[in-house]
Amino acid sequence: DTHEIRISTLEKSTSCPDDQPVLESFLREGIWLPHSCTQGTCGTCKMKVLEGEIDHRGSSEYTLTLEERDAGIALGCQATPRSNLMLEPVEQLDPDDGVVRHPLKDVIGTVVTLDDIARDIRRLVVELDDPMNFNAGQYAEIKVPGTDVARQYSMANPPSQTDRLEFHIKRTPDGIATDGWMFREMQRGDRVELKGPLGDFGMNTPQEEPAILIAGGTGLAPLKSIVQHALADELAPQLYLYQGGRTRQDLYDMEFFHRLEQQYEQFTYRPCLSEEEWNGATGMVTDAVLEDFTSCKGLSAYLCGPPPMVEAGVRALKRRRMAPRKIFREEFLDAS
Ligand code: FES
Repeated sequence: DTHEIRISTLEKSTSCPDDQPVLESFLREGIWLPHSCTQGTCGTCKMKVLEGEIDHRGSSEYTLTLEERDAGIALGCQATPRSNLMLEPVEQLDPDDGVVRHPLKDVIGTVVTLDDIARDIRRLVVELDDPMNFNAGQYAEIKVPGTDVARQYSMANPPSQTDRLEFHIKRTPDGIATDGWMFREMQRGDRVELKGPLGDFGMNTPQEEPAILIAGGTGLAPLKSIVQHALADELAPQLYLYQGGRTRQDLYDMEFFHRLEQQYEQFTYRPCLSEEEWNGATGMVTDAVLEDFTSCKGLSAYLCGPPPMVEAGVRALKRRRMAPRKIFREEFLDAS
């Protein structure tokens, strides 16, 4: 069965099958609703059910408390319809925020690059049969063949390139997607199924203030896309990219960013090692930021990496007086 779903604050409706999360049906129609992880962990997609009945499905009590359920709140990325629905997003929705959003779609592509680029990190490039439009910072879900499992990876290429998507894959020992597939069986020429774009991370409109971008591990991927896009479209007056790793073996694409630094005066690149002495910055990547900036007042920041790094980064930026609403972070879910 399909059900008609409406959003009280928008003059738009969509039809949603029984087994599809309500958020997905809107995104497929190109109707933007707040969301981030689409895995039931961040809570960004909370909606109030004004009319009708939903099934909470996989919603955890951690993200959606029993009190919230009693108050008629649901997670849009998990809940499926049991009847026609009238919903209202909990997070304020600004349909005129000037950001162009692209509809969610299924795409198929061919693996054209699969390279080891750092310790336990591979670069995967997929050439799509049909282009997929996305915004810099967004991610796609890659389906693990022969399973119901999908894993989320941010696009690392600029959004001007819609038919060749670049992903950075970190191996998780014994992980079904990475260790079991992408680091073992996957070969050039393989066909892969993807779904995208998803997520709300990114620098989508021009901004007046300089931006600090902090990456740890494969958290570099969305920032690589954002940097290329922001430089090409002159979205910010100055960009400072910090890339953190433990040793030289953890860093990749250094040459790429050094070249970009030479090409664009408004771009500064700072790779940083925490466990190896070298001719670059040493120590935690967030300490390098603290060292370089005595004040971050009036600046913005984009962070992506392992949660402890992101937490430390946010603390450091706040200590340097960056406004919390100017700090954008991508929750980095360890894709096994
Ligand atoms: Fe639904 Fe994160 S909990 S998008």
